[in-house]
Amino acid sequence: MSNIFKSSEENICRASEVIRAGGLVAFPTETVYGLGANVYDAKAVANIFAAKQRPHFDPLISHIAEVDFLKEYAATDERVFALAKHFWPGPLTLVLRRIEENPSIDLACSGLRTLTVRMPNHPTALALIKKSGVPIVAPSANKYQSISPTTAQHVADGLGDKVDMILDGGACKVGVESTIIDLTGKEVVMLRAGGTAKEDIETFLNQKVLISGGNPDLPTAPGQLLRHYAPKNKLRINVAIPDKDEFYIGFGTQDGDLNLSPVGDLAEAASHLFAYLRLADEQALHGKIAIAPIPNLGLGLAINDRIKRASYR
Ligand code: TXA
Ligand code: MG
Repeated sequence: MSNIFKSSEENICRASEVIRAGGLVAFPTETVYGLGANVYDAKAVANIFAAKQRPHFDPLISHIAEVDFLKEYAATDERVFALAKHFWPGPLTLVLRRIEENPSIDLACSGLRTLTVRMPNHPTALALIKKSGVPIVAPSANKYQSISPTTAQHVADGLGDKVDMILDGGACKVGVESTIIDLTGKEVVMLRAGGTAKEDIETFLNQKVLISGGNPDLPTAPGQLLRHYAPKNKLRINVAIPDKDEFYIGFGTQDGDLNLSPVGDLAEAASHLFAYLRLADEQALHGKIAIAPIPNLGLGLAINDRIKRASYR
């Protein structure tokens, strides 16, 4: 029997009961599907790591539905609230200092002194968080290092019965994960390029956003592991002329077996990226995939980050 349920009020209510009872619910956000649990329930959080086969040194994002929640467990200031007001709900995640000594969220934070938080821009996600009455901690709902899910079926394919319930809210509009910025210091440091363009943050703050130079294999910049989002087939990136035996994912006028965006729109390309990597994995006849060059600005930063990691061997 399928554990996919449509996002009706009744099913969201059921899902909130699953969250409160310590279960796992996969739910849609505007970026990718998340695998959610009650942030205060260490056992449920441990089950997330187990279901994903994800190492415990990799901290999770807390999803909130009201900005006021921040004050309870993170150090906030004017800059934090200004960013929240402008970009939330939306694909921007903030790394803040933890204030409350609440050991039950230690596992969610991987024991770090920081808390990572965002407000997703999806009615199902927001309704689920509100109904549950707690922040919902959620990584992308896929096996560790595999391609992130942008439909309910992707979640079912990857995690199956490891999830108690999957809420189906259709295909994710943004299609790449949130941008993560570290606000624990004076500077603003981008830890992961994502659905909010770096340029938009810089314009809003009137300040340069630095790019993390962290060691990709250490938890100071976790999730930035070199191999991530990986398809099964061999992947080459920045390919203008593919080999005959390669399955080619095009962009703009560079057409292929699939095209991320025939009109060259980076937002459209981001929204197709993970689904097309999956299709390419199924359809590549010779075990080889190539992707056309993607301009490295706006959402192109996130796309290039993902395919670079996906191509790493
Ligand atoms: O769009 C998204 O952000 C999706 C949806 C479900 O909200 N979530 C998501 O979560 O992508 P996840 O766990 O797959 O990726 C979160 C990344 C991880 O790579 C983690 O290492 C990093 O954020 N991270 C979390 N907390 C951190 C912290 N305190 N310091 C540095 N990196 C952190
Ligand atoms: Mg992930």
